[in-house]
Amino acid sequence: MIGTGYVGLVSGVCFSDLGNTVYCVDKDKSKIDFLNNGIIPIYEPGLEEILKRNHKQKRLIFTSDLKKAVNNSDIIFICVGTPTKKNSNSADLKFIFQVVKKLKKMISKYKIIVTKSTVPVTTGDKIEKSLINLKNRKLIDIVSNPEFLREGEAIKDFSSPDRVIIGTDSKKANKILKSLYMPIIKKNSRYFHTSRRGAELIKYASNAFLATKISYINELANLCEKADVDIKDISIGMGLDQRIGDRFLRAGPAYGGSCFPKDTRALIDTAKQFKTNLAIVKSVVKSNNKRKILLTKKLEKILNGKLRNKNITFLGVTFKPNTDDMREASSIPMIEYLNKKDSKIRYYDPSGEKNEFRKLKNVKYCKNISSACIYSDLIVLHTEWNDFKLLNFKNLVKKNNFKVFDMRNIYSPLKMRSLKIKYFGVGR
Ligand SMILES: NC(=O)c1ccc[n+]([C@@H]2O[C@H](COP(=O)([O-])OP(=O)(O)OC[C@H]3O[C@@H](n4cnc5c(N)ncnc54)[C@H](O)[C@@H]3O)[C@@H](O)[C@H]2O)c1
Repeated sequence: MIGTGYVGLVSGVCFSDLGNTVYCVDKDKSKIDFLNNGIIPIYEPGLEEILKRNHKQKRLIFTSDLKKAVNNSDIIFICVGTPTKKNSNSADLKFIFQVVKKLKKMISKYKIIVTKSTVPVTTGDKIEKSLINLKNRKLIDIVSNPEFLREGEAIKDFSSPDRVIIGTDSKKANKILKSLYMPIIKKNSRYFHTSRRGAELIKYASNAFLATKISYINELANLCEKADVDIKDISIGMGLDQRIGDRFLRAGPAYGGSCFPKDTRALIDTAKQFKTNLAIVKSVVKSNNKRKILLTKKLEKILNGKLRNKNITFLGVTFKPNTDDMREASSIPMIEYLNKKDSKIRYYDPSGEKNEFRKLKNVKYCKNISSACIYSDLIVLHTEWNDFKLLNFKNLVKKNNFKVFDMRNIYSPLKMRSLKIKYFGVGR
């Protein structure tokens, strides 16, 4: 596995747990040192135990020595990041091609090179072009195998995915990868073999569709607020239709994370290169950007437009529960705005303090829920961690007239009213 981040580490750990010998390589030496000392650089439930077991068995090796890892491997998975390029929508493939450039000098017997990173359609063709000498000597096959795991559920998602997508026209590579994935496919996952370009596009098409579902229900939540309807009823009523399904149909803050924002943008960019207009995806991106502002304005309105010196508590700041990932979390623009307006922010997140807020003078990390809430004028439930689902707000907050802005609709408005708590949800 080249790139030992969320995807490379989880995939590497899980492949080793199936009995394979796995080398996890990263250019970040400190990450490799941490891992060799039993320290896991990411927060992912269940990962530590499997990692330590396989590391002890010497089936799982952490190294910065790419050459040694490549020499000893039959299959090379590229799992480096593909962030958005600065001032553009397109995916920045510099990490991918840095790896490809190094591989060029290292391969002397047959290897399968797999892109597990999310890469735009035709990236496999470009990799093949830059390794054409190896390809002509039949030393490599380039395959696309996009990853669909979700942070926070990564072990389960990797071990029992809905589907394994393999894109290649090489029968040999397909056969080898099918046997690698066999223990997983046997457990009811569908193995789907397609073209390399097809596999690359399936990943973007899936993420953009899920982002669309979220934005759709978020926009309907705006209508519900005006029409006096509870968005939760709409989600349930729609979700009962099996053609629609209830997942990714819960109103809340703008979607964030390391995938949906960058992948929707990259898909728009790819379509542009092929002179195609993806109007729906474009409007999803717009709608999601607007949502960050809309919920910040709603928060401001809840405090009657007076943000200065108001004590505001954020419970949860990550883009979703069970991860420490802050990439494109909607809490970032919200807290930055409130900080500028001289609000006093305290936040607690079960995954710990965040670098993103360290430099903001009015933003303080608290080690537990009570110290975050005690002086609060407004509690913002931003991320749906289990820790926040059964709170006794009256015991937590000293002030009498505090308010609660539940961006995840965790609590019942009726119950909150009966407790005389000033409660605001979204789309209700
Ligand atoms: N995070 C997710 O939930 C998720 C899910 C599915 C797919 N993906 C995709 O998988 C890819 C990786 O995502 P991630 O979240 O794991 O990224 P990440 O940033 O957590 O990890 C990437 C790792 O690659 C390393 N790296 C970069 N260049 C390298 C090089 N030349 N040699 C060795 N290591 C190198 C970095 O140091 C880093 O540790 C992205 O394309 C992403 O879109 C991510």
